[in-house]
Amino acid sequence: MTFRLLLSLSICAGGLTACNEASDDKSRSVDRGQFVYAKECAACHGAVGEGAGSASLGLGVAAPDLTGLRQRNDGQFPREFVRRFVMGVLEKDDPDAAMPDFARVGLRHVYPEGGADGEVLETDFEALLDYLEAIQR
Ligand code: HEC
Repeated sequence: MTFRLLLSLSICAGGLTACNEASDDKSRSVDRGQFVYAKECAACHGAVGEGAGSASLGLGVAAPDLTGLRQRNDGQFPREFVRRFVMGVLEKDDPDAAMPDFARVGLRHVYPEGGADGEVLETDFEALLDYLEAIQR
């Protein structure tokens, strides 16, 4: 049994209710993230993150598989890289690549009723990252 597992077991034993609440919050966040992913990313990155979704075919660059991010990053899910890449802070490999700059366009399919231009609610973005972390193989 790993040290981390032991640690979380002892924390949970100390406060079972708090522990259940925390994991409920996490699974709610992952569910919300799945919804955001389906609206904003699945067309290109595939229904379950496997890559090469139909909207990215014929664009020249097929959208990469997102379930292998952890594997391609020495076993660590690169949360900060994904955050910065999706928000357009990092230079894309191909400047003409189709990946939208979400800091500019916002989660426009999640908020079809509008809201501020380029709107990305922090909770929704964290939920998206939680979902992506959860689908790593
Ligand atoms: C219109 C198609 C399209 C959409 C929509 C799209 N992407 Fe992408 N994405 C791409 C393409 C093409 C690349 C690879 C080329 C590049 O570097 O821009 C890419 C690259 C990435 C990468 C880098 C992967 C790596 O291994 O380097 C991440 C992370 C990513 N996308 C996440 C997302 C997330 C999260 C969303 C939804 C919020 C999203 N993408 C929406 C097309 C898309």
